[in-house]
Amino acid sequence: MKYPKYVYPQPIPLKKRKWPEHQITQAPVWTSVDLRDGNQALPIPMDPETKLSYFKLLVKIGFKEIEVGFPSASQDDFDFVRTLIEQDMVPDDVRISVLTQARKHLIDKTVESLKGAKNPIIHCYVATSDLHGKFVFGRERNQVKQMAVGGTQMIKDAVAAAGIGPVGYEFSPEEFSDSDLDFVVDLCKSVKETWGPSAKQDFILNLPATVERRPPNQYADMIEYFCNEYPYLDETSISVHAHNDQGCAVAATELSLLAGAERVEGTIFGHGERTGNLDISTIALNLYSRGIDTGLDFSDMPEVVKIVENASGIEVHPRHPYAGQLVFTAFSGSHQDAIRKGIDSKDKTGNFFKQGWKVPYLHIDPADVGRAYEKLIRINSQSGKGGVAYILEKEFGIFAPKQMQPEIGAMVQDHLDVNGGEIGASELLEIFTSNFVNIEGRYTLDSMDRKAGNGQGDDISVDIVLDIDTSKFKLSGHGNGPISAITHALQNCPEVPDFVLEDFSERTLGRDANAKAIAFVGIRRKGDGKLIYGAGEHSNIDRAALNALFSALNRTLIID
Ligand code: KIV
Ligand code: ZN
Repeated sequence: MKYPKYVYPQPIPLKKRKWPEHQITQAPVWTSVDLRDGNQALPIPMDPETKLSYFKLLVKIGFKEIEVGFPSASQDDFDFVRTLIEQDMVPDDVRISVLTQARKHLIDKTVESLKGAKNPIIHCYVATSDLHGKFVFGRERNQVKQMAVGGTQMIKDAVAAAGIGPVGYEFSPEEFSDSDLDFVVDLCKSVKETWGPSAKQDFILNLPATVERRPPNQYADMIEYFCNEYPYLDETSISVHAHNDQGCAVAATELSLLAGAERVEGTIFGHGERTGNLDISTIALNLYSRGIDTGLDFSDMPEVVKIVENASGIEVHPRHPYAGQLVFTAFSGSHQDAIRKGIDSKDKTGNFFKQGWKVPYLHIDPADVGRAYEKLIRINSQSGKGGVAYILEKEFGIFAPKQMQPEIGAMVQDHLDVNGGEIGASELLEIFTSNFVNIEGRYTLDSMDRKAGNGQGDDISVDIVLDIDTSKFKLSGHGNGPISAITHALQNCPEVPDFVLEDFSERTLGRDANAKAIAFVGIRRKGDGKLIYGAGEHSNIDRAALNALFSALNRTLIID
């Protein structure tokens, strides 16, 4: 690894920084750039119909500022802006914004796209880093400043000429975090003076980390430095726009909010150029998890995920904070145990540890984002019969007899051999149920008449009608319970294989009034001496026992 070719970014000369002492107490103004920065970086950009449904999603989530495109750069974006305006699709409390470069013909086209818009924002950007100015534009700093000031004046004039007020103005010194700070402060001061007096929400200085080249604390230092030096804070909203090249966009944005930023740009799940933009759902839900009202509604996260995935063609990562499939799943047994104890600790007032939510391993209540906690129990070829039996007991209250366990284990092993990998608890239950419980086959109990015992010490006697294929057999038997009496009756039938009833157990599943019973019957087949088990489930405990016996009997036909 050739680390010496990189240099540590120059620290910011900020004396007595204050931001480390601060705390975020309220949500910033959230601005979605999904339809511009996000969309331009999709492998297949959204078609107009998809953009419209995405716009509706953003409104539904609660965004009050939405950058809807770059109308001078793309006819599709121009048409999209026109559709929103002409079809009156922008709610009164939502501002749309459009991006432009500081060039006359692009500005004119941008202003034209906004005709009839209510209170929109025009967003102009000029790169201010020396890297960009010198090598990309071939311009000195004073020429870059002239571009910014000139562009601002052109926008002001074009807006006045088109008679489309009121309009908010946003200026971004692109590559702010790679620019000379005093130069940017001076340039932004001139931009503000060119635009003139403004209400705070109508003049936005957006200070982007266009490429994340610094650690988050340095970005925060830059924001605090800027706020210290820039003289028009009363009339300006300080906005941040972090990209995620080092994976720290959320951290950088949180720190910049401590340092004075009050507006934040990003995309719902961080889509955007390269590693993407700030992930707004993550930062917003981080604030939510600290008890801050964010104004954004992610209470149906699965629906948001579905819409964004369809629109972007990019799947949300299973471990994406708050949104991924696996983020409320516990795999480890000790975590599962701790979570169960935490959830059980809820007191009568609905609190956990004297607060609304505090549970081990789950920093928010999954229900708040429309999710549920899941424990994922994994069974693989290493789990063995003991592991399988343990999960049946722990998860489903099914206490399979010891002698039956090897057979269940072998069944699971066969499944894994064919399908590979591992299975979860619900799949295990499915394997168990379909192979052992209430198994139908050649032998069916048609009817049963139960009578008092025969006076020779047996408790009961039974007359049964047994169906075997299409034939009916009337049989009688007696024993000290229904199972032994029916076994006796069955043994009087020449069509039934010889067997001995060897094991019987039953218990209820669950505790409520509708609880079902589960019974296990093990019969030893004469001839090969194999012990074959069946299980029965029924709301009536006697019926469960009979089902178990007939399951075992029917299984004799399929077990070699
Ligand atoms: O990343 C960036 O700097 C931008 C600007 C246009 C704000 O997207
Ligand atoms: Zn960007």
